[in-house]
Amino acid sequence: MGKYDRNFTDELRERLSIVDVVGRRVPLVKKGQNYWGCCPFHNEKTPSFSVNEDKGFYHCFGCGEHGDIISFIMKSENVDFKTAITELAAQAGLKMPDYKPKPAAQVEREESYYQIMETACDIYQKKLYEPEGNIALNYIRNRGFTDDMIKKYRIGYAPKNNIIANKFINAKQDNLLSTGMCRRGEYGMYDFFRDKLMFPIFNAHGQIVAFSGRSLDGSEPKYINTSDTELFHKRKTIFGFNFARDAIHRANRSIVVEGQIDAIQMQCHGFPETVAPLGTALTEDHIAILCKANRNIVFCFDGDAAGQKAAARACDIVMQFLRDTSEVKFAFVSGGKDPDEILKTAGESAMHKIIDDAIPLVDFLWNITNSGFNVSTPGGRSQAEKFLKQKLDKITDIDLRSEYEHEYNSRKFNQWHKWKKTSQNSIKIELPQIDDITKNTVIFIVNNYPEIAERYGDFLANLDIDFDSNVPEMVMDEKAAEKYIVSLKLQKYIERLQKEKKDLTTKLLSGEDTKKELVEIEEKINDAQQKMDTLISI
Ligand code: UTP
Ligand code: MN
Repeated sequence: MGKYDRNFTDELRERLSIVDVVGRRVPLVKKGQNYWGCCPFHNEKTPSFSVNEDKGFYHCFGCGEHGDIISFIMKSENVDFKTAITELAAQAGLKMPDYKPKPAAQVEREESYYQIMETACDIYQKKLYEPEGNIALNYIRNRGFTDDMIKKYRIGYAPKNNIIANKFINAKQDNLLSTGMCRRGEYGMYDFFRDKLMFPIFNAHGQIVAFSGRSLDGSEPKYINTSDTELFHKRKTIFGFNFARDAIHRANRSIVVEGQIDAIQMQCHGFPETVAPLGTALTEDHIAILCKANRNIVFCFDGDAAGQKAAARACDIVMQFLRDTSEVKFAFVSGGKDPDEILKTAGESAMHKIIDDAIPLVDFLWNITNSGFNVSTPGGRSQAEKFLKQKLDKITDIDLRSEYEHEYNSRKFNQWHKWKKTSQNSIKIELPQIDDITKNTVIFIVNNYPEIAERYGDFLANLDIDFDSNVPEMVMDEKAAEKYIVSLKLQKYIERLQKEKKDLTTKLLSGEDTKKELVEIEEKINDAQQKMDTLISI
C-alpha cells in the first residue's frame, strides 16, 4: 500500500458509501443496523453477508470474508490494489494521487494535459476582453453575468482561428489531441472550439478537465462539450460541484438543474448548493457523488415533457440511494422557462417558491404512475402495480421499502378503487347503517392494513365511509383486524337476510305464498350464524 498517500485511501472511504459501492453488485436490504445480502464470495441462498454503513466494512458470517470498499472491489472483480483504487477514485470523482513509481512519461503527460487546459483557459479568458471577443462579452453580459461572475467561473471566448493549435505548435501533438482541445485534419491541427463562448468544466479539485462551448451565432448544436478523455468522464462529472461542495453541506441539500448557465445563476443568486449534469442525461455516478455529499436532493427541471421525462429518469436512478433520513424532491419550472429565466424575470423569491413547492418523491412517483397508465381499468392498474413494484424493489432499506408499500397500498385502495363506490351505485345493496365506533375501526383498519383493504375492497367500498378522515389510534394486530372485517361482513349479511325474512313474513300474512322462500332464508341465516359463532370462537 505504502506507495499511496494514506490520506487518499481515507478520503475514498470517507467519500464513498460502502452500501452504495457494494449495493451496485449485490442487492442489499437493511435489517436493523446493517444491510444484508447474499455473499458474493461464496455460494449461498440466504443472506449472511452484512454491510455496515457507519463503520464502512462488510463481513460474511458464512465464509468469514471481511473488508472495506477497496478490498471489496479487489476481491469481487479480481483486480489489484491500484486498479481498485483507480475505479473507486473515478466513482468518487477524485483525481488519482501520484503513484510513486509512476512512469515519468505518464506524469509528464498528465501534467501536460492539465497545463494545456489551464493555458487554453487563460487564453480564452483574455480573448473575451479583446475586440475579437466583443460579441461574446456583450452576449454573456446580456445574460446577466457580472465581471465578478465571469472571473469566478473563468468564462472566456474561443476565437475563430486555431489559437490553441498555434500556441502549442512546438509541443507534443499527441498530448494536445488527447485533451480533446485540437483535432488533426488534412492541413494539420485545428481547434475543436472556434467562435464559442467558453465555460471551463472543473473536477472536484477545481482543475480544468474539459470545456463546454456555446454557439454565439444561433448555429446548432447550441453547446458542444469536450468528448471523454483521460481527464474527463462526462458521466462522472457534475458541473459546478467544485464550487457547491461546501454550500451543499451548509444547506444540507443539493439542487440539481438541467443547464450549466442555470447552475451558475442559481449559485450566484441565493442557491450556492446548485449543480447540473453535463447535457441532460443524469447518471448513476452523478447521483452517487451527490449522495455521498448529502442525501437530500431537489431536482429542478423544466415543466415541459422533456423535463418530466428527465425527472422520471432521476427518480428511477435515485431509488437505490434512498435512506430513511434522505429527502428527495422534484420541483418544476413552468411556462417554458428555466431557472436562469425565472431568476432574471421574476427574481430570487419566485425561485424560492418553486424550490419550496417541490413535490416529495413519494408523491412524484405516485403521480407518474397514475399518469403513465390507465388506472381506471384492471389491465392499466396491473401495469401500474408492476411499474411501482419495480421502482420500490430498488430501495435497499427493507423497512423503508415496506413503508413505501404501505403508503401506496393505501393510496391504491383510496384512489384507484374509488370508482367502484360510484359505478356500483345503481346496483348498490341497501346496507344497514353502522355506528361511529364501527366506522372508526374500519377506517383505522383500511389505513393501517392496506392488504386487508384490498382483499375486502368490494365490501368496504359499499359501506359508504370516508376513508380519508382521521381516526384515533387503536391497538389491533393484522389478524384481529381481518377477523373484525370478516365478522362485520357476516353481521351485515345476517342483518340483510333478516330484513328479507321480515318482508317475506309480511307478504305471507297478507296472503302471498312465500313459505318456500322463508325456509330457504331461515337456512341461510342459520348457516351464517354458525359461521359467525365459529369465527368468534377462534
Ligand atoms: P438547454 O437546451 O436547456 O439549454 O440544455 P440552456 O442551458 O437553457 O442553454 P441557454 O440558456 O440557452 O444557454 C440544457 C443543458 O444541456 C446541455 C448543456 O449542458 C445545457 O446546459 N446541452 C444542450 C448540450 O450539451 N448540447 C446542446 O446542444 C444543448
Ligand atoms: Mn436557458
